[in-house]
Amino acid sequence: MEKTVVIYKSKHGSTEKYARWIGEELSCPVVGTKEFSRKDFALYDNIIFGGCVHAGGIMGFDLIKKNIRHLEGKKVVVFAVGLNVMQKETRMQLREINFDKKRLQSLTCYYCPGAYDPAKIKGLDSALMKMMTNMIEGKKPSEITDEDRLLLKQVEEGADLTDKKYIEPIIAEFK
Ligand SMILES: Cc1cc2nc3c(=O)[nH]c(=O)nc-3n(C[C@H](O)[C@H](O)[C@H](O)COP(=O)(O)O)c2cc1C
Repeated sequence: MEKTVVIYKSKHGSTEKYARWIGEELSCPVVGTKEFSRKDFALYDNIIFGGCVHAGGIMGFDLIKKNIRHLEGKKVVVFAVGLNVMQKETRMQLREINFDKKRLQSLTCYYCPGAYDPAKIKGLDSALMKMMTNMIEGKKPSEITDEDRLLLKQVEEGADLTDKKYIEPIIAEFK
């Protein structure tokens, strides 16, 4: 029987939530990037990696990037969890930023909308979010899109867009 593992990097819990949902459905181990070492890849045929998105980067994805040469012959699937990953433009940017090497381009990436609680955002993260909202607010009024307005509202008020239904296409790949 094929062995599958879900590896995740989550800062505030929503990526971990998706990882655990996937683990339950596939009855497989779910491991944080800190608990997973390179040699563990040898134990599995299928690797599902999920990371939260910060400023366009999939956090923890280096684990896959740096070891992609050793993952040949294995099925590797990625999911990215972010507030605005359902937007086409964001997805294109995500692919450009994270899947830059030739070997990475063939990987499938799924997208799961995340959660955001302004009360939990501190320090550098808070400065980064401020930069992002300033960028949107600095646009000419005619250039501000409905998606921009929604994102500003979610960042200001908080939002939880997580839903188990978003793991369905990932589960379908392995069942
Ligand atoms: C500093 C910071 C930067 C973020 N940048 C993005 C982004 O570029 N794109 C996006 O879709 N979501 C972005 N988000 C939202 C998070 O990805 C989202 O809240 C996600 O659910 C967090 O996952 P976690 O709960 O597993 O940490 C950002 C959040 C923070 C705190």
